[in-house]
Amino acid sequence: KNIVVLISGRGSNMEAIVRAAAAEQWPARIAAVIANKADAKGLEFAAAHGIPTAVVANKEYPTREAFDAALMEVIDGYQPDLVVLAGFMRILTPGFVDHYAGRLLNIHPSLLPKFPGLHTHEQALAAGEAEHGATVHFVTAQLDHGPVLGQVAVPVLPGDDADTLAARVLQEEHKLYPRAVRQFIEGRVSIEDGIVRLTD
Ligand code: GRF
Repeated sequence: KNIVVLISGRGSNMEAIVRAAAAEQWPARIAAVIANKADAKGLEFAAAHGIPTAVVANKEYPTREAFDAALMEVIDGYQPDLVVLAGFMRILTPGFVDHYAGRLLNIHPSLLPKFPGLHTHEQALAAGEAEHGATVHFVTAQLDHGPVLGQVAVPVLPGDDADTLAARVLQEEHKLYPRAVRQFIEGRVSIEDGIVRLTD
């Protein structure tokens, strides 16, 4: 099976998925890592691990639709069974989301449905939450909604700021996301009435 990963920056979740796929010998390969910025840090790791990389720079396209069309063409060149958004910081058009319906995953750093959108760690601190975390979900047209495939919680500790909290969440993201992607690749995941069903 072919997995295409989209990143915008550091790419530490992509790295965790690449490492898990190799270490656990998944019946899948990371067919490509694609970024919307030429300077996305994660591209270096991917290239160093022999993974094809591509850049589709959103700033070179006049509209979201034009960017998404170009991105789809590059992605589809790798015949993906699954497209993984890993710190990909662009909102995708309904046309894009529909095209990959049921095979497009995202990780969001909050316990959805709490705190969709940006600055989730600041939001959780401001709300005085005792727990925070991350969610892997299928992408639907509504931002940071869509059927939940996995979630992990961490405590919010006294003295936390957004950075310490983000680091605690990120550590768990690196376990959660590879586990979720693996479940999908193994064909254990289905969506019924908008709810994820996991079989063993
Ligand atoms: C992660 O916290 C992810 O949940 C969020 O952006 C961050 C990306 O980090 N969407 P990385 O690029 O995977 O290191």
